[in-house]
Amino acid sequence: MREPIRVGLVGAGNIALGDHVPAYLELPELFRLVAVADPTPERRALVSDAAGLGDRDVHADTAELLARDDVDMIDVCTPQHLRRDLVIAACESGRHVLSEKPIATTPRDASQMIATARANGVRYGIVHNYLFRPEIVRILEIIRAGDIGPVEVAILNWLSVIDIPGAAAYRPTWRHDPSQAGGGVLMDMLHIVYLGEALLGRPIERVSAWVDARTEDAPVEEITLSRFETDRNAALVNVGWGQGPGGIAVSGPEGRIEVGYEDGASGAFAPFEQLVVHGRNGRVEETDLPPRRSITNVLADFGAAVREGRDPVATGEQGLHILEATLAVYLSAALGRTVGLPIEPGHPVYERGVAGLRELDLPDWSPIRRRRLFGVQ
Ligand SMILES: NC(=O)c1ccc[n+]([C@@H]2O[C@H](COP(=O)([O-])OP(=O)(O)OC[C@H]3O[C@@H](n4cnc5c(N)ncnc54)[C@H](O)[C@@H]3O)[C@@H](O)[C@H]2O)c1
Repeated sequence: MREPIRVGLVGAGNIALGDHVPAYLELPELFRLVAVADPTPERRALVSDAAGLGDRDVHADTAELLARDDVDMIDVCTPQHLRRDLVIAACESGRHVLSEKPIATTPRDASQMIATARANGVRYGIVHNYLFRPEIVRILEIIRAGDIGPVEVAILNWLSVIDIPGAAAYRPTWRHDPSQAGGGVLMDMLHIVYLGEALLGRPIERVSAWVDARTEDAPVEEITLSRFETDRNAALVNVGWGQGPGGIAVSGPEGRIEVGYEDGASGAFAPFEQLVVHGRNGRVEETDLPPRRSITNVLADFGAAVREGRDPVATGEQGLHILEATLAVYLSAALGRTVGLPIEPGHPVYERGVAGLRELDLPDWSPIRRRRLFGVQ
């Protein structure tokens, strides 16, 4: 039997405590969590208790964790603006890296991390865990079986996202600070960007969008309506903190698949209710899908990727592509036109993410300028 992969967990916030630690405990043959690092004492204590770590395995300083000789892989659960130096140091010291989404706040940082991982021959995976949600797995099976024909349109409504604060002992409002989050509700929920692409089955090439916020002093957007085009099909991806409609609809020439969540709310924030297919086999309704903890599936895939020497389901390159598609939403809303991918190196948004929007000449009617989002005046 092979030894478990020894994991150093960096960032002991809500996602680490609520999902990553339980997932490691579910996979003892694949992983052993050996150390945690976090500058916030309360968070270190919570995660080390949950993981059963001793005092010597709990670090205030990430450099101490990286200096250990018993860590094979780093799991990055910090907010996204804090990833670059850590990921580069981890890759240069020969550790595999699994990182929470989004990969970074700027494509430039993401590219540097990807290049370092490839140069050092380590595996670099991004937690695109919604790909493993049971209803998504089922939709993809139905599409692959040909029940609705080739996908033409995917509509993903996530307009009742709950604005959950970060860990109270750290900075609970970091998701509303563009310099830390790199965007607003869409950046936080970029899950639905990669889901849109997965349902279309082809890479996103062009993006057009509108964004808004409810209050005059909102620093980031609170609602975005976006259209993602491939060479053959398109997705409408709508997300907002608030009370709007939720659910997924995918259609092709021979039928459609619809997924609903309780009370018409948004996936992950309300329980799955039903999946209905109107396709080649008439109307089929499913209400029972096999339960899965999506992060456990991400970890199982990443562990297998490390052992088999293959890429994980979501690579750094895919994380970068989805980050660029998300930033293209802000760029499109700022300029009032369709934006092509990739965003080229040297472009202010490539180099500085949403901060780069301040360097562009935006029309007066641009919603980003009108709302003064991301520090744009
Ligand atoms: N995949 C998902 O479904 C999902 C869900 C929630 C959050 N996330 C992602 O996980 C990341 C963390 O989100 P969260 O909700 O857990 O945030 P959080 O605010 O609850 O926790 C952040 C943690 O990072 C720690 N931290 C800050 N600076 C650090 C540093 N330099 N080194 C080590 N630790 C540091 C803080 O002390 C805190 O414990 C974000 O990137 C977020 O987008 C993903």
